[in-house]
Amino acid sequence: MAKRKIIQLPDELLRKKCREVTEFDERLAILLDDMKETLIAADGVGLAAPQVAVLKRVCIVMTEDLFLEMVNPVIISQKGKQKGKEGCLSVKNKSGEVVRAEEITFEAFDRFGNKYVKTVNGFNAVACQHEMDHLDGILFIDRCNKLSDEE
Ligand code: CO
Repeated sequence: MAKRKIIQLPDELLRKKCREVTEFDERLAILLDDMKETLIAADGVGLAAPQVAVLKRVCIVMTEDLFLEMVNPVIISQKGKQKGKEGCLSVKNKSGEVVRAEEITFEAFDRFGNKYVKTVNGFNAVACQHEMDHLDGILFIDRCNKLSDEE
């Protein structure tokens, strides 16, 4: 595994719509392994491929009780609303309140190309929605009214 560089705003790569993964090969496995190592080193809860300059629909989430590798994820249903403070490894020293669905059900593929369906709620749902947004070039700052500077 190798740690990759996390790109920062205003890098235009963060604003691109990512391409679907069609090959579930060694290259994808290496990308996912590298993303996990990069996320752990950065002490974050989620990372999307465009943040390491790879424009593919791949993201990972790692919270206290969940580790997910999502390839070509699509939200198929959502319920409720929640508001919480978010930040992003590509938007240094900023945070803001974002309204998201309380619960989402999505389908995605694992690294081997197996399709799965998962329902997540609360903070895990926030993390998954934040990371999936990255795949369409959307950042949390686009969804919040007021940005604050982090100490
Ligand atoms: Co982010």
